[in-house]
Amino acid sequence: MQDVATSAVTAAPERVAVKKTVLMCRPEHFTVSYRINPWMHPEDPTDTSLAVRQWEELYRIYRDLGFQVELIDPIPGLPDMVYSANGGFTLSGLAYGARFQYDERGPEGPAYMDWFRAHGFEVAEPVSVNEGEGDFLLVGDRILAGTGFRSDAGSHDELRRLFGREVVTLTLVDPSFYHLDTAIAVLDTDSRDGQGNIAYLPKAFDARSRAIIDELYPDAVIVNDEDAAVLGLNSFSDNRHVVIASRAVGFEASLRERGYVPIGVDLSELLLGGGGVKCCTLELRR
Ligand code: ARG
Repeated sequence: MQDVATSAVTAAPERVAVKKTVLMCRPEHFTVSYRINPWMHPEDPTDTSLAVRQWEELYRIYRDLGFQVELIDPIPGLPDMVYSANGGFTLSGLAYGARFQYDERGPEGPAYMDWFRAHGFEVAEPVSVNEGEGDFLLVGDRILAGTGFRSDAGSHDELRRLFGREVVTLTLVDPSFYHLDTAIAVLDTDSRDGQGNIAYLPKAFDARSRAIIDELYPDAVIVNDEDAAVLGLNSFSDNRHVVIASRAVGFEASLRERGYVPIGVDLSELLLGGGGVKCCTLELRR
């Protein structure tokens, strides 16, 4: 009995939280008026005030975790602007701007770049199509970079040049998981000598990418279809607390087993646009 208890304790290390700084955009103009991913159904009604209330819950959770939350003003006519993760990618005071795949979101790129300039970042204007932290995830010292639906592989070269980090190209193949942050969750950035760890959905990737992930992250959490289908992977971690979709119950249990503290939030209204927790969160690294 005692042996079991002891091993259970040692199996789940004490996780140490870091204070994050993030950028969010209140969904005052949120609706679904066009369809650029399979989650979006413009013919179905949306409830903007419910979206705002749900978003405010996420905002409150971040504040309670001690995060610094900065805000960009929402712009009328840009209903997807709430998904601030797509606004760019920041590291060491440099912001690599976004260049959106679809015209409907095009004006968001310059709007976010203006914000970065006004808030202490040097801005690198993008040449290749890229949708920011939706497709680029910093894990430890390395950047995991998605392609296949939105960001061009050329943007991965730009990242390499701009930030001098290892950039690992991963190819997405399932249209429901069209951004890397819908198929991979960054759980922590420090464990295993700075390699960090992730959770992911294997079927969202081609065979080459699955093999790479397997080799880089032998301890990765594998998430099941049900949890992925509520965008459970679209989560945000401070290395200890992992803010996730409250409906992702299997993922929640896996996180607990590994010593993380999952915090559930219901963003059902924002799911109608094809986004969840992470999509509404852009990490700011000055
Ligand atoms: N409707 C948005 C789009 O399709 C959702 C973006 C979700 N953002 C994300 N980081 N996965 O572009």
